[in-house]
Amino acid sequence: MDVVLKISRFDPGMDTAPRFQRFVVGVEPNQTVLDALLCAWRQDIGLSFRRSCRSAICGSCAVRINGRPALACQTLMEKAVAEGEPVTIEPLPHFKLLKDLVVDLEPFFESLKAVVPWLILREDYGGRMSPEVARSLEHPATCILCGVCEADSETSETLHPAGLVKALRLARDPRDALGAHRIRLLQVPVEVLRLFVRELPDKCPKGIEITDDILRRGVT
Ligand code: SF4
Ligand code: FES
Repeated sequence: MDVVLKISRFDPGMDTAPRFQRFVVGVEPNQTVLDALLCAWRQDIGLSFRRSCRSAICGSCAVRINGRPALACQTLMEKAVAEGEPVTIEPLPHFKLLKDLVVDLEPFFESLKAVVPWLILREDYGGRMSPEVARSLEHPATCILCGVCEADSETSETLHPAGLVKALRLARDPRDALGAHRIRLLQVPVEVLRLFVRELPDKCPKGIEITDDILRRGVT
């Protein structure tokens, strides 16, 4: 099928603001937005965007598709196409725009450091973890640092969702010396955290779920 893409373009050397450029690409419904972007790139190799794994693992292809942050390699064209409408592709919001669909992710990676994103091993840790706890850690550990949750967050200036995912995952880890204290150290009101935990699976391309018991242990 032929699809019209409306792609945001911005060249910092020439443009003062982003503008849209239309491309007509031939793609199958079961191809992805990333496949469509690659077709557009073959028409204009000056078009800049990031991608690497093409299988929702590296997190680099995150863009805004029809107004919603998402992974281009995970979004099927049949889902992105609406009758008679072009598919709009823009850079992630809340990040500094570098060129076309490429944004500066450095502050996003920096924000992770604030939560001490590594395990601080308890001295008395006995080396065992129940299968149930191990299973509950698996999901938040699949964060691919794509930035979609940050781009989809209304309060991204103060709340850095990927850092919260990391901190909440460590708060659940029985090997960690800080454990549930991490929740207090975050200084994010627990109602906000609860809302975040509830909304995250809908925003996150990996559907990451964090169980509410982590918060309960941290605040009682
Ligand atoms: S929590 Fe999900 S949306 Fe946020 S950075 Fe990790 S994988 Fe991406
Ligand atoms: S290209 Fe790696 S997540 Fe899309």
